[in-house]
Amino acid sequence: MFQTLDVPPEDPILGLIAAFRNDPAPDKVDLGVGVYRDERGATAVLETVKAAEQRLVTEQDSKTYLGPTGNERFNEAIATMVLGAKHAALRDSRVRTIQAPGGCGALRIGAELIKRANATTPIMVSDPTWANHVPLLSSAGLQLERYPYYDRASGTVQFDRMMSALESLPAGTMVLLHGACHNPTGADLSTQQWERVADLLSQRGLVPFVDLAYQGLGDGLDEDAYGARLLAEKLPEVLIAVSCSKNFGLYRERVGALIVVGQNRQQADAAAANLGKIARGIYSMPPDHGAAIVARILEDAKLATQWRRELTKMRERIGGLRKALSEALTLACPGRDFSQILNQRGMFSMLDLTPASVDRLRKDKHIYMPGDGRINISGLREQRVDYVAWSVAEEFGMNR
Ligand code: LMR
Repeated sequence: MFQTLDVPPEDPILGLIAAFRNDPAPDKVDLGVGVYRDERGATAVLETVKAAEQRLVTEQDSKTYLGPTGNERFNEAIATMVLGAKHAALRDSRVRTIQAPGGCGALRIGAELIKRANATTPIMVSDPTWANHVPLLSSAGLQLERYPYYDRASGTVQFDRMMSALESLPAGTMVLLHGACHNPTGADLSTQQWERVADLLSQRGLVPFVDLAYQGLGDGLDEDAYGARLLAEKLPEVLIAVSCSKNFGLYRERVGALIVVGQNRQQADAAAANLGKIARGIYSMPPDHGAAIVARILEDAKLATQWRRELTKMRERIGGLRKALSEALTLACPGRDFSQILNQRGMFSMLDLTPASVDRLRKDKHIYMPGDGRINISGLREQRVDYVAWSVAEEFGMNR
């Protein structure tokens, strides 16, 4: 049977993990996979997570099944974190949340729900979008199409082109939007742009699917949820895929959730019941450990404050590195503008490099990034910023 199988190409992002690990160069630089790294280059377990985990070990009295929708305490806490406690959709009981195995699990069950509800809709994704959106959404049978989003030369959102593309879509079309910290570009919508997008979606009857994987790593927990909150307020139906991988550092625990906002209580219930069935048919139930940790953190005022502090520290470190990199590149590449790196948000920015340059940087300089030139800013250690800037400058044709 397996003779019929070809070996598929490596995942454009995850393939870098092994390549980096196998490189013996002592000064190698990992700007690849999107995990937060501290000044030492480590992805440490958050102190708050450790504390909540200790409590969990002492307090948990059963590991019996919780069911396909997961941990209800977690679901409630996450809906509040994303939408804010006083959101009108919560008050009107239009919101249902189902725990999922990471943001990926949330995207996948969301895609399956769309397929069940409206089998013919395509889903529009930004150009470019996170590489894994493609298999996650298309394996549920959705057809992906792209809307213009990013201008590589200026590093900014091509907002007018995006809006005219969305304007021409038939009602009912799904539109995937990155809630904050766009992956791979770091180019986010401003609050005014979110408002215009919300108005357009509402006028045209388009349905947003928000991917919120980096809440808190852009401008702040509330600020980064601005778009998702606005859409949930202005539109009858919204899907929001949430990940706790980055903001809680719980990557391998696979903690996420799908929030659905329905037109009314009954339709929200129907969506949630279908999601339970979908989950049962794919993985039955999500893993609990990470979700139980997040619930404990968010329910406990002291732990929640401590976690916010840790999150702020991550965000500020990224901000500092953005400044350092943009200054170092400006110095190394006279005549080129790198202010976009300062203006972009979250873990990623994209350098305007060809795949051949990305390859050379990996082979000759031991600097790792995916082929599209996306860089994980937090992977830059302070003492390596100049090295990276000058190496990139050579690829831009600058001589030292
Ligand atoms: C990334 O974009 O690098 C992360 O979200 C990790 C992944 O699964 O691709």
